[in-house]
Amino acid sequence: MDRPSRRNILKAGGALGALGALSVAAPAYAQVPWTWSAKGSVAGTGAGTDPRWVWDEEADPLVASLLDRGDVPMVNQLLRTWTKNGQPLPAGLPADLRDFMERARQLPTWADQGKLATAFRFNEKRGLYLGVLYGLASGMMSTVIPKEARAVYYSQGGADMKDRISKTAKLGYDVGTRNAYQPDGEMIVTCVKTRLVHAAVRHLLPQSPHWPEVAEEEIPISQRDMMVTWHSLPTTVMQKLTAWKVPIPAGESEAFLHSWQLAAHMLGIKDEYIPASWAEANAQAKQVLDPVLAPTAEGNKLADILLNLGSPVDAGILSKPILGAFTRFMLGDQIAGWLKIPREPIWDPLLKVAWGPFIAVREGLLPFPLAPEAYWLFDEFLRKAALLFLSEARPIKIEIPETNRPS
Ligand code: HEM
Repeated sequence: MDRPSRRNILKAGGALGALGALSVAAPAYAQVPWTWSAKGSVAGTGAGTDPRWVWDEEADPLVASLLDRGDVPMVNQLLRTWTKNGQPLPAGLPADLRDFMERARQLPTWADQGKLATAFRFNEKRGLYLGVLYGLASGMMSTVIPKEARAVYYSQGGADMKDRISKTAKLGYDVGTRNAYQPDGEMIVTCVKTRLVHAAVRHLLPQSPHWPEVAEEEIPISQRDMMVTWHSLPTTVMQKLTAWKVPIPAGESEAFLHSWQLAAHMLGIKDEYIPASWAEANAQAKQVLDPVLAPTAEGNKLADILLNLGSPVDAGILSKPILGAFTRFMLGDQIAGWLKIPREPIWDPLLKVAWGPFIAVREGLLPFPLAPEAYWLFDEFLRKAALLFLSEARPIKIEIPETNRPS
């Protein structure tokens, strides 16, 4: 933590303009106007402001001030011991930060512990599918969300993508645990810390020399961007499970959504932007996620790291070609092409033909197939991939960055 602060050096080079939110020179990706109605949100009402121009009015100035005051190393040090939702905040935090965190850690009134208990049962039953989907559908999709890929690449975490992936996996892991939002769980802590990290990135990234070349907006991680990424997680996962005809009782589906609605709230997304139902989520995703997907050099580097994640630990089953084939299968030929994933003569056709029956057999909807090899191969893949993506999550500490990507 005693590294020279690149942020300070850069800061000397130029202050942010007063109208920090104005677009800077960059290719404009498709941004459809915001027409999604807040009537479909968990708030049920709202001003209808395009969340592209909304960030985090509480956390952003606070964390900017912590960075400017040089308090971040001390804060990170103190927050290392804060791991459980019900744990008191450590003594010695700056008063303004403490006040904010005490507020930010409160669950909203609409949090429903009954639904959360059902969500846990769903996560337990569907953990294998979820692990693979978070890793290969959501994780790989994040590499073709240009704003996210670039923000990640040029921020401090971009220099060590594997570590960065682990930290994001922690959130996917925590949200599925039994006590995610209970006093002995960790999801509230993970969300509040991530909210601080995002606020730091909003302050730091505009100071990166690379940022003006690639950014669409000067200040990254708007609430609209947050919802885009959110849809790459639960919305995409539920769409895939539905497409695979995995039987999911309505109560479990709703409960899974609820656990992610709470995550959005705890990450600082305003209730007026959080969809109240899957129908609303799908409609919003169509508007904000689908049109922005595109390849970038930064995203392709990130994808390559994800595809190589299995190599050091795998016994052949999770090697890059198989992860590539699964990515193509889940996200389609266009995205696979953007990510330069080669076609796999054995795996591509096998997945096309055998994945549907495999799920049906696993779910007890079809009798055991006559030729069970593909079944075991897929089952082994599911277990290994779920373990791999989720095990990335365990001993991770989420800390406020002080710099951008060095170099
Ligand atoms: C950090 C999750 C949206 C960019 C993090 C971290 C988590 C996380 C868990 C902490 C890990 C770390 O410190 O590296 C999420 C979730 C989101 C979301 C669940 C939406 C629901 C976004 C969006 C962007 C973004 C929309 C950019 C457009 C970043 C960056 C970091 C970060 C740059 C810090 C990397 C670093 O320098 O360490 N996010 N994020 N995130 N996130 Fe997000």
